Amino acid sequence: MIPREILEEIRYRCDIEDVIGSYVTLKRAGSNRNGLCPFHSEKTPSFTVFPATKSFYCFGCGAGGDVITFIQKIENLDYVGAVEALAKRAGISIPNESVGTRGGVSRRRVLDANLEAAKFFRNCLFDPVIGKAGMAYLTGERRLSTAVIRRFGLGFAPNDFGMLTNYLKKRGFSEEELLAAFLCGRSQKTHQLFDLFRNRVIFPVIDTTGDVVAFGGRVMDDSKPKYLNSSDTPCFKKSRVLFGLNYAKAHAAEQMILCEGYMDTIAMHAAGFENAVATLGTAITPEHARLLSRYTKRVVINYDSDDAGQRAADKAMALLDEVGLEVRVLKLTGAKDADEYIRKFGADAFRRTIEESRTAFDHKLNALLSRFDVSTTEGKIRAARETVSIIAAVPSGVERELYLTAAAEKIGIAKEGLQNDVARARRALAANAAKERGREKNAEAFRFGDRVSPDAAKDPAAANAEETALGLLLLYPEHRAAVKAGKIALSVEDFATDLGRRAFAAMTEMEESDDAFLFARLGETLSPDEMGRLERARRERQSLSNNDEEVLRAAAEFLRTAREKREATARGDWQSEIRRRRAARNQDKQQN
Ligand code: GTP
Ligand code: MN
Repeated sequence: MIPREILEEIRYRCDIEDVIGSYVTLKRAGSNRNGLCPFHSEKTPSFTVFPATKSFYCFGCGAGGDVITFIQKIENLDYVGAVEALAKRAGISIPNESVGTRGGVSRRRVLDANLEAAKFFRNCLFDPVIGKAGMAYLTGERRLSTAVIRRFGLGFAPNDFGMLTNYLKKRGFSEEELLAAFLCGRSQKTHQLFDLFRNRVIFPVIDTTGDVVAFGGRVMDDSKPKYLNSSDTPCFKKSRVLFGLNYAKAHAAEQMILCEGYMDTIAMHAAGFENAVATLGTAITPEHARLLSRYTKRVVINYDSDDAGQRAADKAMALLDEVGLEVRVLKLTGAKDADEYIRKFGADAFRRTIEESRTAFDHKLNALLSRFDVSTTEGKIRAARETVSIIAAVPSGVERELYLTAAAEKIGIAKEGLQNDVARARRALAANAAKERGREKNAEAFRFGDRVSPDAAKDPAAANAEETALGLLLLYPEHRAAVKAGKIALSVEDFATDLGRRAFAAMTEMEESDDAFLFARLGETLSPDEMGRLERARRERQSLSNNDEEVLRAAAEFLRTAREKREATARGDWQSEIRRRRAARNQDKQQN
């Protein structure tokens, strides 16, 4: 358990506006600040920071909580990891025993093991005997200079099953830690650990804070698999890390180049294109897109020219567009990727292709037109039909106008016809969107598909009463005191959902300990998503005028009645249930 003084110190010294402001561009909105949510893709800001409660909430995706929750989510850390990161930021030291072991292997230990492993791989590469083949491959076949090899910290994993394992064990790493770091595997037969990366050149993946979070290893011939990449570990999630971003972030103001591989990234950096980054053997994810949008305004997609590469480019275009990035697509002719292109034609030629890179729309239109023969009427009709659906999806009227002109000319038809069809398609899209919003509203009212609190759907009314109660308790110490003193009858069992029960239990436990209540400590037992839900409960109450004790008492009574019903149903106690309902009906009649 982290001492209260430390949590309070963090709350005091890590100003939530500063901390969040270093990840999100915030603008003043009355007494609050808002900006584009870093946790879901949006173009208009629904993410809000509330300095008064030292909390944040996104009205779009429901992410919310305090500064610790924010760091947990954005840095993908557990509660203790986030507290440590914030303490470090504020120069507060945490006594070791309060961090303790966290069940499983900590992120810090995996990072330490990775750093040692990176040193080991590098030393092997520069060893004239052990690293001979690796160095020959990198400097010969791949034409990398020693300076570039050093800058990217490249290494070599020797052709041996135990060298790295022994090296790291000697430095105090446990088997559990080495397995968790994806550096070692365990043999089924002998139950011994063995090195996972063998006889491969090594590319360390370094995050924006300078930590080595993962490795990629490439064979030096045609054997399979060509690349071996770290799986997800306590410090690495493929879906949110970009190779090269540690350097590229300083050259990203105008635009970034997104490619598929380690070697392409390195070749581009070596040729002076230091704004290049790569996804790591996975397709681009919405998280990657949001990450890019934190550093730049425009992304040039540079994927392989094969079919798979082009399909991936289509997906990337959509995801990057969703976060409001301007997108260009690079088409390389005469080489399959950037690495090969630069080697064949030089950096200047590559710079020109970047300057000529097409807007995403041009790229799509060209790809589409190449599939139809627009010299025939049939071809024109089909090309026009597909063009209409692409243009209709463009939100900006100015852009649509420009695309209509360009497309009409290329297909060889009158612009007006195309324009009318686009207008009709947009009306259909708007109608669909309205229907969809209606469905969502309905689902929300009945709590269907509530990801954060799945059992809320069983009794939506009770789930709402629960949020009223939790919101009031979070906001007002006097309400907590009233419950503690038994002035208002409310117990854990009264809560209808698992989330409600755990939140209330955590609050009462704190309230009854000597330590007293501390919002920041709820994150110890609740997940970041659940913290978002509590923040919502608190916000909703705060926006209402009546938060008196009788509101809490009514919510508590509602919860108790709901609980009695649940219990009756569970007992199959139909008779008493029927009696209760009849009595309720009669009462209604008398009142009317
Ligand atoms: P070179 O052949 O070294 O130039 O590689 P490349 O960067 O041109 O590779 P390619 O386009 O084949 O692959 C792009 C990226 O996909 C690589 O950088 C890897 O991250 C990933 N990748 C490629 N092959 C494999 C594989 O066999 N397994 C896994 N897990 N990832 C791979
Ligand atoms: Mn290549």
